[in-house]
Parts: sequence; C-alpha cells; structure tokens
Amino acid sequence: MCGIVGFTGEISAKDVLLHGLKALEYRGYDSAGIAVETENGIKNIKTVGKVSNLVDKVNEYGDSLKATTGIGHTRWATHGGVTAENAHPHRAGKVTLVHNGIIENYQELAAQFKEKGLEPVSETDTEIAAMVINDCYTDNPIEAVKAAVKRLKGAYAFCIIFDDYPENIYAIRNGSPLVATNTDEGSFIASDMVAIVKYSKDYFVLPEHHIATITKDSISIMDLKFREVEPDMMHVSWDATAAKKGGYEYFMLKEIHEQPEALTNTIVPRIVGGLPDFSVDGVDDSIFEGINNITITACGTAMHAGLIGKTIIEKYVRIPVNVEIASEYRYKNPIVDEHTLVILVSQSGETADTLEALRLSKARNAKTLSIVNVKGSSIARESDYVLYTHAGPEIAVASTKAYMVQMSVMYLIMLRLALLKKTVDEAEVRRLTAELIHVPDYVKTILDSDKAIQKISNKIINANSLFYIGRGLDYVLSCEGSLKLKEITYIHSEAYAAGELKHGTISLITDNVPVIAVATQKDVLAKTVSNIVEVRSRGAFVIMITTEDVDVNTSLCDHILVLPKVDQDFAPFGAAVMLQYIAYYTSYAKGLNVDQPRNLAKSVTVE
Ligand code: G6P
Repeated sequence: MCGIVGFTGEISAKDVLLHGLKALEYRGYDSAGIAVETENGIKNIKTVGKVSNLVDKVNEYGDSLKATTGIGHTRWATHGGVTAENAHPHRAGKVTLVHNGIIENYQELAAQFKEKGLEPVSETDTEIAAMVINDCYTDNPIEAVKAAVKRLKGAYAFCIIFDDYPENIYAIRNGSPLVATNTDEGSFIASDMVAIVKYSKDYFVLPEHHIATITKDSISIMDLKFREVEPDMMHVSWDATAAKKGGYEYFMLKEIHEQPEALTNTIVPRIVGGLPDFSVDGVDDSIFEGINNITITACGTAMHAGLIGKTIIEKYVRIPVNVEIASEYRYKNPIVDEHTLVILVSQSGETADTLEALRLSKARNAKTLSIVNVKGSSIARESDYVLYTHAGPEIAVASTKAYMVQMSVMYLIMLRLALLKKTVDEAEVRRLTAELIHVPDYVKTILDSDKAIQKISNKIINANSLFYIGRGLDYVLSCEGSLKLKEITYIHSEAYAAGELKHGTISLITDNVPVIAVATQKDVLAKTVSNIVEVRSRGAFVIMITTEDVDVNTSLCDHILVLPKVDQDFAPFGAAVMLQYIAYYTSYAKGLNVDQPRNLAKSVTVE
C-alpha cells in the first residue's frame, strides 16, 4: 500500500528510482512521482496513473535530470483523490518527502497550520506531515524528525530530503516497512527488497522509531535518544530475476507456475525422517504445550488459508480452531489467553490489521506463531515464533503461490500437533506426511490443464454474477476461488456452503447463471451432487471440479474439470490451481490488467 524508494550515490538516481517504483507498483498504482536533486535544486515530477506514465514524463526532461540523490513513490490513494497534486513527493518549506502509511491526526494538525495562515496545496495527510517536519526544522534534520514524529499519530515510513543537505536522505518508520542497504554504488532504501535486490541481496530492516541518515557512503541509525544502533543484516535467497516476469505475460501466471517449487521449498526442509519437524525454524514443541484452543487470524487470501487449516486441524487434532478476520478480531475483545495458540498468516508480514491482531494476542498472553513470506517483516519479528513460507517474491496482487504455501504450512502444523498430541497414530502421520511431500509433483501435473480452463472462462466472461459451492474443504476452497475471481475479473461472485444455498441464495439461480461446484470430498459427495442437481434444475450452468477417482454422473454438469486421483484431504492443492486458472483466464479474456486490478493493492499497511 504505497511503495517508496530512495537513493543517494554514484549512479543515476532517476534510473534507480524508476526501476524501484516499477518493482513496487504492486503496492499501489494510481499515481507516482520522484524528486531528485539537480544542479538547480530539487526537481519534483508527479503524474497520475501507472509508473509507465511517470517514466514518459521523466524522459521528457532528458539530461537536465542528472542527479545522484532522490526519492520516489507509487501511490494507493487513502486521503485525497487521484490527482498529480496529491501524488508524492510532497514539499513544505525546505522539506521534500515520500510517505507510506496514514497520519491519523492530520486534520487537527492542518487546523493548527491554518491558524498560522499556512494552507497545504494537496488534500493529503502526507503534506501535513511534511509541514510538521519543516515546522520543527531549524538546521538539524535529525532533531527535526525526532521532534516531528512526537506530533504525528498513525503509521508511517518516511524518506525525507532537506534542501540544506541535498546529498542525504533521512528516514524513519512506525508500522510501515523500510529496508535499506549500502553498496559501492551508493545507499538504497525502499519499502521492499524487490525494489533494490538488483543492487544488493544483503540488507537490513530499519528498526521502528529509529532515524536513518543515508549518505552515499554509509547509512547510520540512531534511536530517538540519539544513540547509534548497529543494524541486523539479512540476506534474500532469491535474485532480481525472481521479481521479473520471465517470459510470462503476467506475474500471476508466472506465480501459478512457480507453485510446485514454492511448495517443495516450504515443505521439504520441515520433514525429518518422514515426519514433520520444525527444528530448522527453531520452533520448539513447547509452543504447542498447554494449548487447548487455536485462533488463526489473517486477512484476505491468507485468512482463507486459515480456513483450510481449521478444517484439517479440527479433523485430525480434535482441538477447536477459530478463524478470525484480523480487522474484526482486533476490535472485538477476543477470547484468547495463555492456553490459546494464535497463528497469524501473512504473505507480506506487514498487513496492519494482522500486525495489530498479533500485538493484541501477545498482550493477552497467548502464544503466537506466524506464517510469513517476507523475511524480517514486522509480523515475523514480533511473533514468538515464525514459520517462513518460501514462495519468493509474489508480485501479482492476486495471491496464488503464497496461498498454496500457507496451506502447506497448515498441514505441517496439523501433522506436528497430531503427532505430539497422539490424536493420530504415527503410521498414519507418516502416511499423511508422505502425501504432503507428494503435493508439489501433484500440483505440477495440474499446471497443464489450462487449455480446458480457457474454454470454460470464455463461457463465464459475460456473466453478471456467479456462485461457488462446496462442502467441507471444498467450501473453504470455494471462498478463495470466489475471491480470486471477483478481485481480478470484476464479476460479482459468492461462495456458499452447498447445503446452505437453499436457505435464500438459490433464489438468485436462474437460466445460465454459472455455478462452480467443487466436489472433491468423497464423504460428502452425494450431498454436494444433490445440491448440483438443485441448481441445475433451476437453469444454472454448472462447472464441476472433481477428482478422477470420484464416481460421478458427468451428465449432471455442463463442464467437468477432473483432477488426478488424490487423498481427498490433499485435493485442495489441485483444486486451488484450477480455481486460480479460472480467475486468471477470465480476467485475461476480458482484456483486464490481471496483475493490477482496480482499487486494490497487495500489501495493505493501513486499517
Ligand atoms: C491484500 C492482498 C491479498 C492478501 C491480503 C493479506 O488484500 O490483495 O492477496 O491476501 O492483502 O495480505 P498478507 O500480506 O497479510 O497476506
């Protein structure tokens, strides 16, 4: 949710910034801007639309933009409409800055400035923050930043340039992420490593409430008492090519194809002697001791991975699992205590609501375990234990490979718990673990089912509304299939527990309304089939997803997508690919930008 980048060094700042913004575009893409220090002072260039619009505008300046220091921003509007004035960077007096986050008390601060006769140019909270920093500035940037943040409430990551120090960038964060690195070419700072991995794979996460002074030779960090702090260096295991499309037209398609590898990387290190084992993560079994209930909290697709976790953990471990949307959980006085294991699921590790849900859980003495993809992210750092998913960077806004690996970690947790609590005998845990190890190969066999799915997508592109139905694991998977479709195709869709449809929603089923029936669960198959018959007899156009070992009358549906034979508890990994393809090819057939759906951003760092 908004991406920021800063550079000062020996090479062209505009090249570094534009490259970084392109990579960060998944965080917001309604407008973009850069400010660079030229011989004639700071040049601030902003446009509405994608980063490509900004690139065109910057190119118009030609050589006059020779600069080796600058900051840039790609925006997902929160306060103020999508206009060039509201795009970042913002300027106030001697201060130019970019911001990711929300300044909650900006109206109050704006009113104070108004009394002094100072009016902002834009409608943004960010410009008010720039005014506050400028107000606190006399000649010392660090003191100005320190004094200013005392007056700001809310979440922020700032990269700031002061006119009097044109070769330096100052940065601070609270809530929103910032990573930084220094190399022979200069110093880089950004919301995410994808923006700067081209220049370095080593980096550090700027600690919260610390001020970074970024010069071309070094980056120094101070806490708010002006004590120097040494950063904890980290290393990314992927390289710049992982954040490129690699011949695919869209990142989403590339990421669907990366799922077998992501699954292997996530599952295999956690299997020792044929059994699940988290020693490689330093996750001690003590985290599971004394636990009599589990709460899984997350947002969006990550929450849907939690629903899969609930279904399988309750089945095999016989312990109550509550799944809560993080934005609800944090305001509802949740029932959690020291006997609760709270599992936080997040690709980015920065989702504001999930982070606050974590903090609340810790305050209630719950044990916390996060499942996170981005190393060193806030949720990973603040939770008691972390199980990293190894999906590599996920760029498409619609999550695919991150969901898949989150699911696989849910299975690993279920298996470890079943083993520890002896709710399943060891031989059965071994059998289920072997099934899980086989999942990457299983998913690989389904990747080439896309031709059949393209045909189906052509049948649903003109639908106004469609429904996903299923029971048990098929139902929770339907929730994800439906979300995927609506976010990237803009077709209204709903997921329903198949047996619930007749309690109201079936009134919406008329001629040719598409119904995608997920029917992989053999023990409830007959029931799901009855529900399929019910919708078909009301005119629905039924697409069924099932497995080859399921005995089903194919004349019951208009189209059938058949997964290879698999233990029904592992069918979600295959069905998920089909559901991803349905969303992808429908969006593609509609000519939409699959990777950057309207109004969305991948990393939601505001409430
Ligand atoms: C956004 C993304 C979703 C994601 C959700 C949670 O809505 O578009 O794909 O599932 O945020 O993000 P997280 O990074 O916490 O998994």
